[in-house]
Amino acid sequence: MKINKFNSEKKLINYIDSYNKKFDKIFLITSPPIINLYPFIETLNTKIIICEEGERCKSINQYKKIIECLVAKGCNKKSLIIGMGGGTITDLSGFVASSYMRGIKHIFIPTTLLCMVDASIGGKTALNFNNIRNLIGTFKNPEEVILYFNFLETLNKSELVNGYAEIIKYGLIMDDKLLELIEKNISSLIISSSNKHIEHIIEKCIKHKIDIVRNDQFDDNIRLILNFGHTVGHALESYYNYTLPHGKAIIYGIKVASYLSYEDKSLTKADYTRIDFLINKLNLPKLKISDLKKMEKLIKNDKKNINNQLYYITLNKIGKAKIEHNYNKKKIINALKIL
Ligand SMILES: NC(=O)c1ccc[n+]([C@@H]2O[C@H](COP(=O)([O-])OP(=O)(O)OC[C@H]3O[C@@H](n4cnc5c(N)ncnc54)[C@H](O)[C@@H]3O)[C@@H](O)[C@H]2O)c1
Repeated sequence: MKINKFNSEKKLINYIDSYNKKFDKIFLITSPPIINLYPFIETLNTKIIICEEGERCKSINQYKKIIECLVAKGCNKKSLIIGMGGGTITDLSGFVASSYMRGIKHIFIPTTLLCMVDASIGGKTALNFNNIRNLIGTFKNPEEVILYFNFLETLNKSELVNGYAEIIKYGLIMDDKLLELIEKNISSLIISSSNKHIEHIIEKCIKHKIDIVRNDQFDDNIRLILNFGHTVGHALESYYNYTLPHGKAIIYGIKVASYLSYEDKSLTKADYTRIDFLINKLNLPKLKISDLKKMEKLIKNDKKNINNQLYYITLNKIGKAKIEHNYNKKKIINALKIL
């Protein structure tokens, strides 16, 4: 998989259009806010397919509509799919590309910070089903991920915070230097994307994800550490019926997993305090989780729960994650009180 970077709209347009030499047709899947913010997309020599906004696009219904559209417009084995948007669009368009005619080539152009550092890398595709996150999906790597950092300029503070959820995750599980950089600059990083560190941070995270995925494409072993914060995070997203964005849900999940690492005495009090201090700077509201039974059920639906044995990711120290086998789900439920 190639990673390519562009810093001029003209060069980006020329590059995307040059794909017409290699492919019979190009289908670009995106959503209304992105087209509205970036009118140049409509000038591209591609067939645009617009899907619903946000998590709603990762549904069987949206998938069906897109497949119908591809059939109607003559998409074939020699066509290319481009997923241009946040992680919801890349998850959906990756799934479309991996299943249409048993798989056709695709590329991603991530437009959110979260998608640049995480969702566009690693080849996991996904749809949600019956309120279960990412239940349906495949593994298929894009041919290429195209980074155009200017997309970050239109992200609001809330979307930047969502991106820092996954960035903080990389720092905590495998890169203490990255975490230090985030700690030193967090106040300015979450206000604006025009920060001298941003490109370095994005490229570091991409490199970490590629390194992990190269060693474990199918989530059997080391890739599991990328799920740090995701057991509780995914359950919270379902609990709040996807009104809580993925990134913020993961921050709450990271809070719980860090607390449990400290309670289990694998993380020192000093490290735990550091993490808590950093998370507090993100100013997330306190949660009221009244239906703990529902949360327990949602945690049981986690894909890392196999034969009722939950793989759960904790920390040994800042920069070092640990995969726990058969983790006690009751402990996780009890820890939700800290949220
Ligand atoms: N496949 C993977 O490995 C992987 C990894 C992490 C997350 N994910 C998935 O990614 C999704 C979350 O991704 P996300 O946070 O990007 O959410 P998202 O795709 O919903 O985008 C967030 C919001 O930002 C808007 N937006 C997108 N680009 C913009 C821009 N340049 N300027 C202004 N607004 C813009 C979108 O319209 C949307 O409202 C979840 O569904 C999650 O499951 C997948």
